[in-house]
Amino acid sequence: MSNVAIIHPIQLSRSCSVLGQRMWKVVLAALLLMASVCVQKVHANKSQEAKGEQKLGHVSVVIVGATGDLAKKYLWQGFFQLYANQEQFLKLAEYRQLKTIEEYQALGKHLTEQLNQEGIVEAGRLFYLSVPAFAYADIAEKINASCRPTDGAWLRVVLEKPFGHDFNSAQQLSAYLATSLKDEEMYRIDHYLGKQVVSKILPFRRENRKHLDPIWNKHHIERIEIVLKETLDAKGRIPFYDQYGVIRDVIQNHLTEVLTLLTMQLPDNLSDAKEVLKNKLKIFSALEHLESHCAVIGQYESYNKEVEEELNKTKEHSSLTPTFAGVMVYIDMAQYEGMPIILTSGKMLDERLGYARVLFKNDIFCVQSHEDVHCKPKQIVFWFGHGDLQYPAILVSNNLFKPDLMDAEWKEVKEQKDISVLGVPLSGYYILTPTVQREAYTELIMQIFQGRKDSFISSENLLASWGFWTPLLHSLANATPRIYPGGVDNGNMLDFKLLGREVSFANDALVFINQDFTGRSGGQSFQVMQGKYRSADMVSAWSEELIVRLADDLQAAAEKAVMESGRFHLALSGGSSPLALFQRLAHHQYTFPWRDTHVWMVDERCVPLTERDSNFHTVHDHLLQHFKMPYYNIHPMPVQMNQRLCVEEDGGALRYEQEINQLVNGSRFHFVLLGVGHDGHIASLFPGSKLDAHGNSLVALTESPAKPHQRMSLTLRAINQAQKVAVLVMGKSKHELITQLSRVKDDPIKWPVTGIHLTSGRLVWYIDYDALLG
Ligand SMILES: *[C@@H]1O[C@H](CO)[C@@H](O)[C@H](O)[C@H]1NC(C)=O
Ligand SMILES: *[C@@H]1O[C@H](CO)[C@@H](O)[C@H](O)[C@H]1NC(C)=O
Ligand SMILES: *[C@@H]1O[C@H](CO)[C@@H](O)[C@H](O)[C@H]1NC(C)=O
Ligand SMILES: *[C@@H]1O[C@H](CO)[C@@H](O)[C@H](O)[C@H]1NC(C)=O
Ligand SMILES: *[C@@H]1O[C@H](CO)[C@@H](O)[C@H](O)[C@H]1NC(C)=O
Repeated sequence: MSNVAIIHPIQLSRSCSVLGQRMWKVVLAALLLMASVCVQKVHANKSQEAKGEQKLGHVSVVIVGATGDLAKKYLWQGFFQLYANQEQFLKLAEYRQLKTIEEYQALGKHLTEQLNQEGIVEAGRLFYLSVPAFAYADIAEKINASCRPTDGAWLRVVLEKPFGHDFNSAQQLSAYLATSLKDEEMYRIDHYLGKQVVSKILPFRRENRKHLDPIWNKHHIERIEIVLKETLDAKGRIPFYDQYGVIRDVIQNHLTEVLTLLTMQLPDNLSDAKEVLKNKLKIFSALEHLESHCAVIGQYESYNKEVEEELNKTKEHSSLTPTFAGVMVYIDMAQYEGMPIILTSGKMLDERLGYARVLFKNDIFCVQSHEDVHCKPKQIVFWFGHGDLQYPAILVSNNLFKPDLMDAEWKEVKEQKDISVLGVPLSGYYILTPTVQREAYTELIMQIFQGRKDSFISSENLLASWGFWTPLLHSLANATPRIYPGGVDNGNMLDFKLLGREVSFANDALVFINQDFTGRSGGQSFQVMQGKYRSADMVSAWSEELIVRLADDLQAAAEKAVMESGRFHLALSGGSSPLALFQRLAHHQYTFPWRDTHVWMVDERCVPLTERDSNFHTVHDHLLQHFKMPYYNIHPMPVQMNQRLCVEEDGGALRYEQEINQLVNGSRFHFVLLGVGHDGHIASLFPGSKLDAHGNSLVALTESPAKPHQRMSLTLRAINQAQKVAVLVMGKSKHELITQLSRVKDDPIKWPVTGIHLTSGRLVWYIDYDALLG
């Protein structure tokens, strides 16, 4: 057995190899440090062997792309920290070019020869890819082809974010990597998981279980905040940053990981990576779907100029990439239902800090003694570092409980400094802090050597997280961020408030609106316009005002119906058109007669109601679940009967029709809300449908040209005998259709929407200016 370490810092291409003399010294020094890491491992053979934890022998470390930004900033520092704590040992550091497959083959051969020459046993090979992510797949392939270690020794390949920029790209990258590396061979670093406070969240929760178990739920927790504030801008990183933005850069990964640690069920064995992953995935699958109204976004003022400079863009170019975001997340689990979790991060803010705060409800009303400890906020703060409190710490307000220490690596401190952390003076907390502070990278590099995977991101974990964030990212793709000046000048501009399930900026900031947009954002100058369209009534306005108007009209119809007959029968379509209306109805939460409203479906796709693309599921998620409404007033279409979907002889359509006949007076709905498709379809009545075949039925099975093909739909007859029908049309993409429809004659086979002629009710078109004027 020989205590030898061979270090190969390697670079990807010749162009990166221009390093000054001085820089070389730094790099070389860093390499020596690495040697000590390996040696420490080898020296530790006695105890390790006894525990049977680690195969002993020689470890080769290869850093690919050793000169990158990240390597300079953190990686060397990580190794240096390790070195500083250890006895030094230096054997060999080496630098070589690594680009072609031949060069990889030469490296593989070299590593093996070195081992043979010295007659030593190989324990493993560690490749640290410090290169842009687009190069991962190629390098992994070459490593697999030519640099796998000898039999029995391990291979560990360390990767840094970004791991894709949405679900599809992450999945693609994972699939590529999987052809070359096994999942257990990949160590995806999220350096947040190496932060001392973050890695202590689970041990803290376990150690203090007897205090936390009764209060770690929606009844006691007011909300959770996970916050990362930066003072820096994105200068110098724009080519990367402009494609990512703050959500992809830090929220999808770092802050989301913290969220799972705070909310997941405690694993029995905290270091069992499989169990930790399993519990994390449970949280991911329970996270409620995010819509654009769950987030606010901002961009610092000078960002666009930086984009112009670094990406050679013209002045007219305007990037929508957010550099600030606040997102509200809910978990659909009995334990946390309705408890907001706020994730927020931004660049160019007033201070640099990071924390997660669990704020508890305080049920004590203090009449006089406001200074009393019981009147203060009750909270647990996981302080990741920086800010007023200079060191990482876990703070528990002393009106909650006295926390137990996790282990000897942590101590309790009494702080004399006269500062407050999140509204509570330090004297109001029990403060736990690490005995020795360690950098995240140091911690993680140590774990890689030990083969511990519980603090790394597995493929499943990664895809679950992207699966959660991607819909929000897509829905924000064209959203305009609020422009903020940066630093303390931001004042209260970025404060945001939670209103039901919506998040919005708490203060107006008209000052920074680009002049080109003032006509539009001014809003007031464009009144709601009334007119005629296809000889029916039309209401038109900018989309926001249009939705407000439609919601008001809907409420008026509901009140009238309830006054006259005690109930309001409303038939809703699914799909994307009515979502904005549903959101708006949140403002009508307390005044709308929900208790007396019956909700019917205009049409349904033949999929189980629990699936996302079911219309009922959309209506349920965006409307029904937020309002107090008796369950028996809700009438989904029976598309699934006898464990099968939309089979004629199951008679689902007939059954829905009977239900309508029984409950709706004269089978006339009070209000039917419709959208209209680009092909002119309404409900699930598509062009070319055999409308005649529906006869006098109110409900029919129909066919769609798009998947899923089978549908259930109200017939034209059911729609035409309603008291009021609203057709909502929004967005530029519908302009063509609106123009065309204004010209065509009634032809329900070709344009089903032209078949709407109410027998004795009123049809109103709600068309926004984008659709009307293009
Ligand atoms: C390593 O283990 C061997 C036996 O397996 C033992 O002889 C040797 O002394 C150990 N070396 C160190 C440095 O502990
Ligand atoms: C690695 O390469 C070998 C052939 O060289 C191939 O059979 C194998 O599937 C590749 N992938 C993994 C994960 O081993
Ligand atoms: C916990 O999991 C780790 C990693 O799988 C394992 O080494 C250890 O033995 C487990 N501990 C217990 C008490 O089961
Ligand atoms: C921008 O232009 C400069 C000078 O023409 C060039 O060196 C640089 O590579 C360009 N950058 C990008 C991102 O196109
Ligand atoms: C049912 O409708 C008829 C005719 O439209 C009306 O006269 C009657 O009052 C309604 N009944 C109820 C209970 O609303």
